[in-house]
Amino acid sequence: MKDAVYDEFIDRLRSECDIVSILSDYVPLKKKGKNYWGCCPFHHENTPSFSVTTEKGFYYCFGCQSGGNVFNFLMKIENISFFDAVKMLAQKMNIPVPQKERTAQELTREREITKLYRVNEMARDFFYACLTKTAYGKTAQEYLQGRGITIEMIESFKIGFAPPAWDKLVQAFLGRGVEQDLLLKAGLAVQRNSSEGVYDRFRNRIMFPISDVRGRIVGFGGRVMDESQPKYLNSPETLVFNKRHILFGFDTAHKFIKECGQAIVVEGYMDVITAHAFGIKNVVASLGTAFSPEQGNLMLRLSRDHAIEILFAYDSDSAGQNATSRALSILRNMGANVRVVLIPDGKDPDAFIRKHGAEAFKVLIKDAVDFLEYQIKQAFDTTDHSNLEGKVAVVSKIVPVLGAANNAVEVNAHIARISQALSIDESAIRSEVRKFLFQNKKDKNVKVGKNISNIIVARTPSVATEQAERHIIRLMCEDRSLISHIQTNLPVEEIQGEQRREIIELIFNEYNMGKNIVDNAWTMSLSEAANAELSLIMLIDIQYNDIVKMVDDCIKSMRLTKLKGLYEQHRLRADELQRMGDDRFLQELAESQRINNEINKLHYL
Ligand code: UTP
Ligand code: MN
Repeated sequence: MKDAVYDEFIDRLRSECDIVSILSDYVPLKKKGKNYWGCCPFHHENTPSFSVTTEKGFYYCFGCQSGGNVFNFLMKIENISFFDAVKMLAQKMNIPVPQKERTAQELTREREITKLYRVNEMARDFFYACLTKTAYGKTAQEYLQGRGITIEMIESFKIGFAPPAWDKLVQAFLGRGVEQDLLLKAGLAVQRNSSEGVYDRFRNRIMFPISDVRGRIVGFGGRVMDESQPKYLNSPETLVFNKRHILFGFDTAHKFIKECGQAIVVEGYMDVITAHAFGIKNVVASLGTAFSPEQGNLMLRLSRDHAIEILFAYDSDSAGQNATSRALSILRNMGANVRVVLIPDGKDPDAFIRKHGAEAFKVLIKDAVDFLEYQIKQAFDTTDHSNLEGKVAVVSKIVPVLGAANNAVEVNAHIARISQALSIDESAIRSEVRKFLFQNKKDKNVKVGKNISNIIVARTPSVATEQAERHIIRLMCEDRSLISHIQTNLPVEEIQGEQRREIIELIFNEYNMGKNIVDNAWTMSLSEAANAELSLIMLIDIQYNDIVKMVDDCIKSMRLTKLKGLYEQHRLRADELQRMGDDRFLQELAESQRINNEINKLHYL
């Protein structure tokens, strides 16, 4: 099926479906005014704040701010992909889904992928049988027993054993008609240097099968039973195994993560297996130490609004600490809530849980520290601060951390604690932080100056701006002839709300490409959050006599708020500079004066 045909099909489904009747299967709805109302199925409530507009085909919940079109609804309530939501809606409406036309290349690739899953599954069963049913498995069984791995754990993780020989798997599989090429592509066999032949990649190792979200086997990790290297040999990257996209244990952990809204990320296979065996089931491993944004997404996607809290319980050695810091900054950039589980005496979760039990580990989870606290603790732990030199070193490590934080109250509390711990005057630390911010400002010019004012001026967009931005969007949707006027008068960077900026950018783009934004198809490429925002915008009551004047008033109101913010910032910077005896305060003052003039002009326009 060509893309255009598919788009058309989706559009047809949306425009022909009766959103109220589809949603009524899940939520009892009552008509009140123009819209329908019910109790939101996505959060607990007793008075209806979930509303549906038939005219625009959107739903929105005023209680939990979720919203979107009929596809978004089905995806969320059934926990299915967009494609599956399309199929489901088509089924409900009794419309056949057009067959997707695949190229020969796509077909070959798909067949290869299917074969890879098959052969991996065969290999899992082969290793499992070697461990549990053959004489080779004896030593491996003893090894596992020695590490406290029970029969139940072997069974539930389908742990296996690769025999200590060159080609047991290769011979067995070739004998069963598996092509040699497939064994190579799956990373189960390796090409011999000297001849055509191949040999087993995994030999004399305990085998941990690795699954994707849907439980399909994508690769293996194989552990030696002595001190030889490498300790773990993993499958190479294949068509189905991309480490960045895989979390070990996620196929079983995901429902527990979703249920409790919290995920615990550990480093290793053994950590996951032990945690699960002790009943802590929301645990996954990032397979080694490098955590990727894709892995973060796997977990965050389990809840709307990315509301899953992610806890890191990496090994407490220095490699683990570095990996933790990197993972934290990746996830914080994605807007996730993160904390760090501190495991005492250099143990990994596996060793800790075995020694102290699940309850003790749950206490560590409860006491997990946030990002700022973790960084401060790191500075203390990695520096000997018994003498003055050491104290200065700790402060110099902490200052940039405090400088980058944006919660002034929290920063103040930390400064008090640090000053006590190091017996250094609070004001000395404070002045270091200030110095750092200014130093940085010289290098990066505006960026950090903004930070200082941030501590005092809250950065949330004002109510007036929010309303103006919403109105602008709504007006563009009502009358597309306004778009070009708005585009020339409203720089996209000036939009304060992230979702609204996304919506407006998309409207401009679609408009510039000559697409019709009235028919709703364009909203499909919006993020979930932006879709929710748009649904809300479609539901607000809006009144005007002169639509063009209304647009101009909105733009003016947004500009005013922005200028006032800028004015405030320059004033604050001027004050700060003057206090520090820096002559540049005059420039700042002049700039703030200039902005003030602009504000006055706007007022009289
Ligand atoms: P660890 O060395 O901490 O192993 O590596 P572990 O999981 O605690 O295993 P045991 O308890 O010693 O048996 C953590 C993870 O890093 C990856 C593996 O995923 C491992 O579980 N790793 C480690 C490798 O991929 N290759 C290696 O050589 C070592
Ligand atoms: Mn370990």
